[in-house]
Amino acid sequence: MISQSFIQDLLDRVDIVDVIEREVPLKKAGTNYSACCPFHSEKTPSFTVSPTKQFYHCFGCSAHGNAIGFLMEYSGMSFVEAVNDLAARVGMQVPAQQSEPRSGATGAESQSAESQSVLAQNQSQDGKNSLQDLVGVMDAAGRFYRQQLRSSKVAIAYLKKRGLTGKTAARFGIGYAPTGWQNLDAAFSDPETQTRTTLLVNAGLLIRNDDGKCYSRFRDRIMFPILNLKGMLVGFGGRVLEQGEPKYLNSPETPLFQKGRELYNLFDARRAIRQAGRVIVVEGYMDVVALAQHGVEYVVATLGTAVTPFHVQKLLRQTDDVVFCFDGDNAGRKAAWRALEDSLGQLVDGKNVSFLFLPEGEDPDSYIRNFGKEAFEQLSRQSLPLSIFLFRELSARVDLKTSEGRAKLVQDAKPLLSRVAAPGLALMLLKQLAEISGFTQRELEDLLKIRRVSSERARERAPRPKPASPYRWLMQILLHDPNHIRKLERELLIQDREYGDEIAALTALVEFIDAHPHIKENTAIPSAIAYFHESPHGILLQKAESETLTWDSDIDLEAEFSGAMARLRDMKRKQRMTNLQNKSLSALTPEEKQELQRLAVS
Ligand code: GTP
Ligand code: MN
Repeated sequence: MISQSFIQDLLDRVDIVDVIEREVPLKKAGTNYSACCPFHSEKTPSFTVSPTKQFYHCFGCSAHGNAIGFLMEYSGMSFVEAVNDLAARVGMQVPAQQSEPRSGATGAESQSAESQSVLAQNQSQDGKNSLQDLVGVMDAAGRFYRQQLRSSKVAIAYLKKRGLTGKTAARFGIGYAPTGWQNLDAAFSDPETQTRTTLLVNAGLLIRNDDGKCYSRFRDRIMFPILNLKGMLVGFGGRVLEQGEPKYLNSPETPLFQKGRELYNLFDARRAIRQAGRVIVVEGYMDVVALAQHGVEYVVATLGTAVTPFHVQKLLRQTDDVVFCFDGDNAGRKAAWRALEDSLGQLVDGKNVSFLFLPEGEDPDSYIRNFGKEAFEQLSRQSLPLSIFLFRELSARVDLKTSEGRAKLVQDAKPLLSRVAAPGLALMLLKQLAEISGFTQRELEDLLKIRRVSSERARERAPRPKPASPYRWLMQILLHDPNHIRKLERELLIQDREYGDEIAALTALVEFIDAHPHIKENTAIPSAIAYFHESPHGILLQKAESETLTWDSDIDLEAEFSGAMARLRDMKRKQRMTNLQNKSLSALTPEEKQELQRLAVS
């Protein structure tokens, strides 16, 4: 763990504008900077960087964070890597972790200060290996498998038979794990040590059996290296030659590799995805490789797992148009339906998710080899938009000719529609549901208890948006200037069901400021978001932070702060009154009766 105060110091020294400017050309816009968002494709800039508050926010796709977050999202670095990277830029030394002094650490002493700080973060501790060490053995194994492919006639023959050229195999770094239970020994020139065995086990390359003996996981398999978004080799998929069980063997989950988060070929396809403005998601390694060989390069694959919300989110950050491609059989439809369910919560207006079903008996690999690039691309442009696929499947489950069937359709649609956060899409789905079910849109809204979002009504209503709750305001103000915490009346932060999440987030923020008194010297808290990254409060705090971007420059914070406190006091008063009024008069103590009278007049 890197201490929070170090991160604070670091964020005070780097300028997020410099960090982002290196990757994305920024334009001055008032007090802020703006650009077309690097996390989704757009024509008018909605990506904003605040130099005073040291964070970025995209009003289009809600990407949000500080300098550390930017490096993590944009360059795919881990938190520790991003901290190291920034520290190196401003010449700061990342403090070493608390660890046992190592005997004879002379090797490290000769390193430069900069790499020492990097090493410090990655030092082996209590026999646990660092990520850096794991990447080292993965790379060595990858090199070894590639070299083995060159000398294996059977493996080469197999790939040839599958239609792969040598160029394609090289481009994807495809290799071959030879037969033999200890086949990795040859990957290293020095004799195996205990440390390396442990590393190889932790990297998923060796399996330790119950007797403590180790053997190679991948034997006699074609090896597909899997890179993360930073281009690091984090896992392998291994296919048997010809027949055998299992057909594919993947690396297990390791500190480097989480199947549900990675996508095969995403790293190499990034440029092609941006150029094409879309990405096609297929199921198999061979599908990706074959499509790329035929010139369709904006393709990625899941790793033998179902599509997860992480996948969808990751892809929607790269492009506005995600096409999931499945086989036309029953299994394909089932998998597509799961992908649909996992996409609903990630959808953003202006982005498209669609589903492509191949003719029975074809997979993308066979299809492109049989019919060619043009045919595949043409087919892929006829993919079913999510809404059509959704209602087609739901309709197929009921008898639309009966009113019972139509009512069931509405009930089936309800949980799905409620997951959609994108307002435009939600409205469109509601309209389609109305059409299919024969209910009016209004009846559906009542039935589904969906808040009316029609644009007509929105215009009828006063244009004033619902004011943020006082809790939200207090979060914003404290993030903007933590000094206000001195005036906070903490006894007002008591439980309230309606605002439970906001109170919890505000309380967490208050505790954070209390625990880090030195941040009060700053005008804003650039590290709060890093600290709350992945905590349940992260999203609310991010939202609050991004709302400060829309503040008028002459905002009177003193007045806003006391206003928020006054509103809170009033809310508490009304709450207490309701509580007392809910009791029968005879159950009230004399003190409570007095209190009720007092509350009613104050
Ligand atoms: P080929 O048969 O070589 O064309 O492979 P494919 O990529 O077309 O495989 P298939 O369509 O059968 O499976 C799609 C993906 O599911 C594969 O690329 C793997 O990621 C995964 N997969 C397939 N079979 C297995 C298996 O037996 N075990 C595991 N863990 N994953 C598998
Ligand atoms: Mn296949």
